[in-house]
Amino acid sequence: MCGIIGYIGKGNVKDILVEGLKRLEYRGYDSSGIAVINRGRITCTKAVGNISKLEEKISGKKMPGNVGIAHTRWATHGSPILKNAHPHMDIRNRIAVVHNGIIENFQYLRNKLTKKGVRFRSDTDTEVLAHLISQNFKGNLSEAVRNSLKQVEGTYGIAVICSDTPNEIVAAKKGSPLIVAVGKDEMFVTSDLSATLRHTKKIIPLEDNEMAIIRPDNYEIKDIENVPVLKKIEEVSWNIDMIEKGGYRHFMLKEIHEQPESITNSMRGRIDEALSSSRLGGLLVFGNKLKKVEKIIISACGTSWHAGLIGEYMIEDLARIPVEVEYASEFRYRNPILNEKTLIIAVSQSGETADTLAAMREAKIKNSIIMGICNVVGSSIARESDGGIYLHAGPEIGVASTKAFTSQVTVLLLLALHFGRMNDLSKSKSKEIIDELRTIPSKVETILKEENKIKKLAELYFNKNNFLYLGRGYNFPTALEGALKLKEISYIHAEGYPAAEMKHGPIALIDKDMPVVVIATSDTVYDKIISNIQEIKARNGKVIAVVNKGDTKIKKLADHVISIPKTMEILSPLLTIIPMQLLAYHIALKRGCNVDQPRNLAKSVTVE
Ligand code: AGP
Repeated sequence: MCGIIGYIGKGNVKDILVEGLKRLEYRGYDSSGIAVINRGRITCTKAVGNISKLEEKISGKKMPGNVGIAHTRWATHGSPILKNAHPHMDIRNRIAVVHNGIIENFQYLRNKLTKKGVRFRSDTDTEVLAHLISQNFKGNLSEAVRNSLKQVEGTYGIAVICSDTPNEIVAAKKGSPLIVAVGKDEMFVTSDLSATLRHTKKIIPLEDNEMAIIRPDNYEIKDIENVPVLKKIEEVSWNIDMIEKGGYRHFMLKEIHEQPESITNSMRGRIDEALSSSRLGGLLVFGNKLKKVEKIIISACGTSWHAGLIGEYMIEDLARIPVEVEYASEFRYRNPILNEKTLIIAVSQSGETADTLAAMREAKIKNSIIMGICNVVGSSIARESDGGIYLHAGPEIGVASTKAFTSQVTVLLLLALHFGRMNDLSKSKSKEIIDELRTIPSKVETILKEENKIKKLAELYFNKNNFLYLGRGYNFPTALEGALKLKEISYIHAEGYPAAEMKHGPIALIDKDMPVVVIATSDTVYDKIISNIQEIKARNGKVIAVVNKGDTKIKKLADHVISIPKTMEILSPLLTIIPMQLLAYHIALKRGCNVDQPRNLAKSVTVE
């Protein structure tokens, strides 16, 4: 999704902005642009496609000056063509704006401005901001921005520069993330701290309806009514190595291989040996409220929603509290039955997904208890939750979520143990699960060593057009996640189903050209899964089965088996998903797809 970086200071503004844009690439984009104030004039350059295209265009250009803004665009209003790329400028080219979000009343504002004689140069909603700010500008940029934003409906994270006031950048936020990053005699504004991490770890996340005026050596934060807001500078613990590839060909592969460590980090310091329970500091703020919870709703999107489904099984199993899992995009527009004894758990890697945030806010109005489970420290979901649990998975750059998923499942298990022990989960059962959880990272390592076998399977199947993924119980959501991974990065049509549902429809698709990935680990539904495999084989389907080491029965039936170590059923998704992530990766690679930045997708979906 769109990305913003702005810089003011004595550094090389062009290089700093382009490097920042490259760090934002992983979010998904279709065009980019840069605007720098140079001797009282704004030089603006845009390009469609990769940042390298923008670099080509500006390579010969000198861009001195010490203030500039830049943007990666992921088209919402207007197709991905040059005129729609950001920054957008006013008619006199003295104001430039970059914007993430959607101006919902842009058509109304556009008509109004057109009547006043403004000629629009793009199809975007953003351009109205440049003209509005220009019309409101009477020498004070922040005042012009403030007065313009009062006329705007919708969401925005914006950074604005003006050639008449070249010693500042004005930024404002409502609904789209924006962070001020504080350096030494230099200041940044960004929508994503990866863009500025190389320069500083000191950040000030802005809240909705806040504005920042940044200058090389100072900043002011105010609200939209011009009232100063006192904010603390936070220090982030991520470092630059964490957002680089570290020798791997792709971020996704690096992140798949990081899972032994990321799962360990998600549980580190969170086990209470004496009580055989979990110790989750972020839940202390809830006091006794969690004891009174009668219903839990997990709300999320995409991969996080799949992790939520596994969480549902875990919490109901261990804690006997009813759980529903809702797509956040549906939940926010329903009229769900909620009260102060309902706990809403918003699960999100980025902590910025617009639908998940909106669902959370909807539940807040209805007095429910709000818990956030997310990866990005200081993200909107983290800030707006009553309390919550961080994943500690480290930055996830690949658009296809991998390590965040296994960390979400780990954290949801810790939460299920917490609720379980508050209810009637026995100490011995809880201890058994915790002891087994500790073995998971090394079991994941064992599976990762089998990568070459999975690569060979990818070579056999990469040219298929369809895939089916089947699983039961705890591994039904894993089947959904396996299918999502494949379709996201290889563009192969893939469906996940509960294995027994197959005969209610999808079985019609099965023939010799249909590979079916079946999760067939030896758990309570093992025999049922064997029947499902027989049904596929009877119709000449090709079966790739994920089984436990030592399995002999399925080896005789399936075309291929991927063996993984045995674990408890409740923990099995943490292992079964690994071969499916690798299979998707290697198939996508064979098909020549851009694994880290798949077409049309964005890492963090900050618009509706
Ligand atoms: C995962 O591979 C996807 N790219 C996507 O489904 C993602 O999980 C979803 O957009 C939710 O994002 P979040 O976890 O950051 O809220």
